[in-house]
Amino acid sequence: MKKIAGNPYLKNDKNTVIIDDLPLESLLEKYETPLMIFLENRIRDNITNFIDVFESTFNKFECFYSFKANYLPEICKIVYSEGIGAEIIGLPEFELALKLGIHPNKIIAGGPYLPKELIERSIENNIKELIVYNLNDLKKINDIAKKHNLVQDICIRVNSQKYNSKLGITLNEENLSKLTNKIMGCPNIKIRTILSHYTTQMNNSDQFKKNIKTIAENLIILSKNGIYIDNINLGGGFPEATVMPQKQLKKIALDMKMTIEKYDIDYKKIYFEPGRYFVGDAGLFIAKIIKVGSGRWVFLNIGNHICPKFARCSLRFYNLSQINISHKHKLSFFGIMPTDQDVLAKDYFFTKNLNEGDKVLVTNVGAYTLTFSNRFPYPLPKILLVKNDNYRQIFDPLVHHDISIY
Ligand SMILES: Cc1ncc(COP(=O)(O)O)c(C=O)c1O
Repeated sequence: MKKIAGNPYLKNDKNTVIIDDLPLESLLEKYETPLMIFLENRIRDNITNFIDVFESTFNKFECFYSFKANYLPEICKIVYSEGIGAEIIGLPEFELALKLGIHPNKIIAGGPYLPKELIERSIENNIKELIVYNLNDLKKINDIAKKHNLVQDICIRVNSQKYNSKLGITLNEENLSKLTNKIMGCPNIKIRTILSHYTTQMNNSDQFKKNIKTIAENLIILSKNGIYIDNINLGGGFPEATVMPQKQLKKIALDMKMTIEKYDIDYKKIYFEPGRYFVGDAGLFIAKIIKVGSGRWVFLNIGNHICPKFARCSLRFYNLSQINISHKHKLSFFGIMPTDQDVLAKDYFFTKNLNEGDKVLVTNVGAYTLTFSNRFPYPLPKILLVKNDNYRQIFDPLVHHDISIY
């Protein structure tokens, strides 16, 4: 059986596409397109691979799944059941994490916007760390922690120095003096960790090394100012697991380790916050060609409202109606939003002949598609979770109405 898109859970057996152990045809007899499918076993394998690599490279390693990649409750449950903590940026994700039974000491929370309620809920539940992107949030946290008679552990997100990034704190003179003053005046907070997340879809060691350099430089600045940090958090940024096989992941982990040693970074714990690597290649769309243009372009019945460019997925397209025929003729794919900007892919390799009604498999759509999706007035797809030769429906637009958490 031939693998499709390098994914061991997607196979082509003569003319039949097998999803894990389930013939896709059996699903398409029951469900209309567009349909979204998640592969439970692939998520579990991706997590196992990631943990194997990083646990064998770093001995004080902890991992937090970045909920924003995909916060479908069933997906988060699978990730948590593998022993992974949660990295969340807002209150809805936070409440979901608690509802799923994730232990607060496995939750780190925070982002560019820290509303009072998120701080309060985090502190009263005793979460592991609050992540701060804005030094003015420190006083707010301190005041709430004081009310609860607690000392809250803090992670400072520093600016990763990537291009023109505005995210995180730049430790210039002004901010350093602000930070030192806040620490002195805020006994109910303790700065434990620094975080730098460089970007997403990083597939070479250099980007990971640059991120570590940022951490090293910031640690020096902090220690010169009498601020000593226990833990380093290197964020996420790994591509889909099919794009970065375990061997390459291992090489990157070793390069990271060497870079950390080169800069002589001393830490108690090292954290990572992967999102895409765990779930990206575990998500598929089954779509349909609804119009064939004359110059090698087609419209599919999905578009950027559900498969947004913002998600930066490594999209792959397969003609399910001719899965055995070679895919080496360029074709452009348009979506169904009524704007010429709704382009899913330009000049992607596909079958020579194609027809209206042909079913199309789109792979690597498990991360950021649903979370960046918008409310364009089309019905959302049904979502199935496949495991071995079983499946169950985990989202029904008629019942759940919307993919957002509230
Ligand atoms: C701070 C932080 N951590 C982790 C992630 C997860 O990134 P990825 O899904 O690329 O692993 C992001 C994504 O934007 C992030 O901003």
